[in-house]
Amino acid sequence: MASKFTPPLFKFLLIPTCLLIFLYSTLLPLLSPPPPKPQPSNHPIPSPCNLFNGRWETDPNRKPTYDDTCPFQRNAWNCLRNGRENMGRINSWKWVPEKCDLPRVDALGFLGLMRGKRIGFVGDSLNENFLVAFLCVLRGADLGAKKWKRKGAWKGGYFPRFNVTVAYHRAVLLAKYEWQPTQSAVSNHNGVKGIYRVDVDIPADDWADITDFYDVLVFNTGHWWGYDKFPKETPLVFYNAGQPIVPPLQMRDGLKAVLENMVPYIQKAFPRKTVKFWRLQSPRHFHGGEWNQNGSCLFNEPLEELQLDLWFDPSNNGVNKEARQLNELIGEVLQGTDIQLLDFTHLSEFRADAHPAIWLGKKDAVAIWGQDCMHWCLPGVPDTWVDILSLLIRRRLETG
Ligand SMILES: *[C@@H]1O[C@H](CO)[C@@H](O)[C@H](O)[C@H]1NC(C)=O
Ligand SMILES: *[C@@H]1O[C@H](CO)[C@@H](O)[C@H](O)[C@H]1NC(C)=O
Repeated sequence: MASKFTPPLFKFLLIPTCLLIFLYSTLLPLLSPPPPKPQPSNHPIPSPCNLFNGRWETDPNRKPTYDDTCPFQRNAWNCLRNGRENMGRINSWKWVPEKCDLPRVDALGFLGLMRGKRIGFVGDSLNENFLVAFLCVLRGADLGAKKWKRKGAWKGGYFPRFNVTVAYHRAVLLAKYEWQPTQSAVSNHNGVKGIYRVDVDIPADDWADITDFYDVLVFNTGHWWGYDKFPKETPLVFYNAGQPIVPPLQMRDGLKAVLENMVPYIQKAFPRKTVKFWRLQSPRHFHGGEWNQNGSCLFNEPLEELQLDLWFDPSNNGVNKEARQLNELIGEVLQGTDIQLLDFTHLSEFRADAHPAIWLGKKDAVAIWGQDCMHWCLPGVPDTWVDILSLLIRRRLETG
């Protein structure tokens, strides 16, 4: 059709134009500047500012630095592989602190700075989620990274080019706890099948043996302190100095007792030069019900700032209110210590769009466990936690 009615002049122009476009599109990439080199490790550290206040801005060119093939990925969080929609969009958001810029971690420079050092995470699966992001990001600068598991570590990685170890010690309550089935018929009366004995003054075995091992440590606890994990048929019972605490403590007071023992233990048992962090609560985003009541998080966009209090302020009594409550408790106990807070709660509260939700990689997982609106897709929000943590570690190591 075009050829029959096209005037000759137009044809005359069409061919050279096409040729020009063709040449342009093939040659231009060759002429344009090469992709930016990794920043040298001595690029200036942004001046201190509150990294935890800010907003998310979308940048369509932003891409994660790893994908579903990272060997440290855990199936249930590997949203790319599990076909989660919108992963490009989820990873296009950039956290912009109010008064400074948050650079992406320069994996090469960071591993160089950490040469011969070890970084440990201690706590629950939200710290494991963090660890996996950390390993996958750093692996960008050392593809020889290998799995590593020793010293009671649950999971970890070793970066041979830099002799750097990064590992996770699973200790969900931090304190030691163990199952004790009920023996007497008496307590069987009220349906108690047994108790979980928690020794508030004894660290769990998984991290008792690491006091001289790590140069940097990141602690957390929180998501296990609920009646869904420990219902009244199998409650937590708190012990101190080998004796049951009387009167028995409710769960929150038990957490307080554990923190009041574990924090001084950390201060005393770990050398002063060990750089210590405490990661505050990672917020959950169950909408319309708890995890076992069809609560869901099928969101395509982050929440608006104005929505956050409605979701998370305890006075609104929402499903996900515990994060801020626990933070308050943790903040009180940590006051006056040399343990630095990683307050990722607020920045993560926005990201209702970034959980694995129904994309769990197993056929019946949602029917059995409900949606996962607690852990995070990787790549995803924990990559921003990595940027912040690595910047704070640099600040501590380079400026003392
Ligand atoms: C690797 O680092 C560890 C400390 O993390 C150190 O003890 C060891 O000597 C280092 N090995 C080499 C070959 O440098
Ligand atoms: C969850 O959804 C299923 C299927 O729609 C329904 O049968 C069940 O009653 C719901 N459960 C709750 C606690 O709402």
